[in-house]
Amino acid sequence: MKIDVLLGLQWGDEGKGKIVDVLTPKYDIIARFQGGPNAGHTLEFNNIKHVLHTIPSGIFREDKINIIGNGVVIDPVILKHEIDEAVKIGANLKENLYISRKAQLIMPTHRLLDKAYEEYKGANKIGSTLKGIGPAYTDKTARLALKIGDIFKDNFLEKYNCTKSHHEKIFAGYNFNETNEEYEKEWFAALEFIKSYKFIDSEKFVNDALKAKKTILAEGAQGSLLDVDFGSYPFVTSSNTTTSGVCTGLGVSPHKVGEVYGIVKAYCTRVGSGPFPTELSDETGQALRDKGFEYGATTGRPRRCGWLDMVALNYSIMLNGVTKIIITKADVLSGFDTIKVAVGYKMNGEIIDYVPYDMNDDLEPVYEELPGWKTDISDCKKTSDLPIELLNYLKYITVKTGVKVKYLSVGPDRTQTIKIK
Ligand code: GDP
Ligand code: IMO
Ligand code: MG
Repeated sequence: MKIDVLLGLQWGDEGKGKIVDVLTPKYDIIARFQGGPNAGHTLEFNNIKHVLHTIPSGIFREDKINIIGNGVVIDPVILKHEIDEAVKIGANLKENLYISRKAQLIMPTHRLLDKAYEEYKGANKIGSTLKGIGPAYTDKTARLALKIGDIFKDNFLEKYNCTKSHHEKIFAGYNFNETNEEYEKEWFAALEFIKSYKFIDSEKFVNDALKAKKTILAEGAQGSLLDVDFGSYPFVTSSNTTTSGVCTGLGVSPHKVGEVYGIVKAYCTRVGSGPFPTELSDETGQALRDKGFEYGATTGRPRRCGWLDMVALNYSIMLNGVTKIIITKADVLSGFDTIKVAVGYKMNGEIIDYVPYDMNDDLEPVYEELPGWKTDISDCKKTSDLPIELLNYLKYITVKTGVKVKYLSVGPDRTQTIKIK
């Protein structure tokens, strides 16, 4: 068997959590391969709205295995809270949650480092979620990181103190005096709590499962334009959010990658700093924010909103090898007279149709306009219920990307999903 991949093709918050939950019945295993509690994946079903940060979004479907892969960074305080909340609404985590021993721990001092670095950057700050993601991944490559499997070793505390004292040297250099001793206490308590969950060597587990013909969906976090190599650097996260991250974040070979589902919001949003060529700072942007309830699932920050960017989308499709597109939040576009799509950027007086070396350069979007639709589509159940203008918008996306739109999401609930025929 091959492992299917589902990831966001924009700047995150495309609706990955909802779609993973919808597709989970087709799979035996759902596995997160990168990121950590900077992610906020929202699921809605039976009038329950639930946000996951570290736990894969297949957790509310009975008897499905959910793996936190080796590429993920875990804050045990946040994970414990997530477990408690998911248990309350009936998830069987003791049975269905599997944690890779090689997943890395976010230490309390990583959160402080995130803050220290952002304060130091001042106006140039990334707009990080301040969950310690960047500093944790930095320590991974600096070979100072603690893996969650280390918590069962006798020298865990020694290792912890060694890395912590390294962080303290950095704090001194930055004149940063904040501490979080209370959080540290909670952190150790949460680790004790998590010890009773299932730990696995996930690379072997995943490959054995594929051999045994189990079906697996890898769930991405963030979006391709936040990828540490290919995103709008330096305004990115610190992991590979693209398909390549599946290979390192779960230990599967590129030959084993099957379908790649690219999740695309029908317009664009971004939370935090960094370039966003199609951003609308006017009443249309505000209308998208209000209608789409565009506020961060992790931090509550208002999301910046703008039109769909075909140039950036095609770049993401190229990087990921996307085989199927899934469009979300089409219902939010209902009511607009026209819908704009950027098909090029004007840069230094020239029009280009590719993402340039530095997205931070001055890029003025070149738009094409399509007729909008006026009807409410949130109750539509099948392709033939959809307005012709929306079907034309989907066709337009397929023509411009060369990739088929397989599903359309018309509302946040798991039932509000249409298979496009
Ligand atoms: P993720 O990080 O990609 O999982 O996305 P988030 O959960 O951060 O943000 C997506 C938001 O849009 C959440 O509040 C979802 O409940 C909501 N959502 C997902 N799909 C749709 C849709 O088709 N229509 C509407 N109106 N909301 C949606
Ligand atoms: P999901 O999985 C949207 C953004 C932050 C910031 C930058 C770096 O819900 O789509 P970090 O905390 O990684 O240091 O932040 O990346 N960011 C996200 N934006 N959705 C996310 O995840 C994000 N995770 C990080 O806002 O600009
Ligand atoms: Mg999100």
